[in-house]
Amino acid sequence: MAAALQTNIRPVKFPATLRALTKQSSSAPLRVRCAAASPGKKRYNITLLPGDGIGPEVISIAKNVLQQAGSLEGLEFSFQEMPVGGAALDLVGVPLPEDTISAAKESDAILLGAIGGYKWDKNEKHLKPETGLLQLRAGLKVFANLRPATVLPQLVDASTLKREVAEGVDLMVVRELTGGIYFGVPRGIKTNENGEEVGFNTEVYAAHEIDRIARVAFETARKRRGKLCSVDKANVLDASILWRRRVTALAAEYPDVELSHMYVDNAAMQLVRDPKQFDTIVTNNIFGDILSDEASMITGSIGMLPSASLSDSGPGLFEPIHGSAPDIAGQDKANPLATILSAAMLLKYGLGEEKAAKRIEDAVLGALNKGFRTGDIYSAGTKLVGCKEMGEEVLKSVDSHVQASV
Ligand code: IPM
Ligand code: MG
Repeated sequence: MAAALQTNIRPVKFPATLRALTKQSSSAPLRVRCAAASPGKKRYNITLLPGDGIGPEVISIAKNVLQQAGSLEGLEFSFQEMPVGGAALDLVGVPLPEDTISAAKESDAILLGAIGGYKWDKNEKHLKPETGLLQLRAGLKVFANLRPATVLPQLVDASTLKREVAEGVDLMVVRELTGGIYFGVPRGIKTNENGEEVGFNTEVYAAHEIDRIARVAFETARKRRGKLCSVDKANVLDASILWRRRVTALAAEYPDVELSHMYVDNAAMQLVRDPKQFDTIVTNNIFGDILSDEASMITGSIGMLPSASLSDSGPGLFEPIHGSAPDIAGQDKANPLATILSAAMLLKYGLGEEKAAKRIEDAVLGALNKGFRTGDIYSAGTKLVGCKEMGEEVLKSVDSHVQASV
């Protein structure tokens, strides 16, 4: 059973620059900022950004799980909690305070909950919680966003797709995160010569931005099943024509990876028609945003999926891909597993602490094996629990694996 999740978050060998950050080899020296704590212990500074909605609930649980799994591997964490998104707007009037971004940059890794909510929906754009998240991604230069989608055997029935279509799906979306239409200029809303309002954005990619995300994707595919599908809209968009040209050129350096290309409309269709055809998908910022939500539903719930956002020279940002779910915030209904699994990705990709990461992955599977389910993944015959109880079950499971192995 455990194998299913491990394939989901398998270590990846990145290009030299990213490799330094992700510390794939457990024998490699750790981040210089990682100071020795108690004798025999390694210490890491983690910035926690709970954010809005269900963010604080799921972060407090993931923090406990991280601490517990880490301590069993001789790791000590010092956590610093900082405001972001709506929480920061309410506190200091901006969605990404200076103190938050500097604390994040100084830390070894960042664990984020979620941002956004009805309260701030009508804010001007620069005062929207989402703007804070984009500023955070840009500030940390985390251009490579890894979004795994794995159908766990325990949750096949939670998928809206037929069992035979969903069973065995194990794919990774590699989304470009700091470029494209999200950040391109010119952008804005103005009045044209006819006195009519026009809104506009720019989809723009420089060759180096395409190359660096493509390299991460090739390396990722190489460590998985060796298949990479690059998704674009090269039949219409110039930015996609360049994208396809650069990705194709790089393929020569990765002869062991089988590269294919697909238009995004077709990819959206293929994902629900036959998702098992995909191993690794690489795509731009906006297509990755959309396709990763779609891919998440194949697995049963967006509440299960973690993500890692990596740069080539600084700490990584780890967050569940679900949003702040304001409709269930504070009601103890949220599924904390995506954030708990994001903590596992933090350990594996952010700190190179693969053993501690595996403790978390196994503990999540342990809680699911015992039949515990939050509402979003509930099916007949399983035990419906709230967010806190699910967290407690995962914690127990971290401990019971230790007892079992003693
Ligand atoms: C995501 C989210 C964000 C995005 C929003 C909240 C800005 O949908 O992480 O997928 O569009 O990137
Ligand atoms: Mg999204």
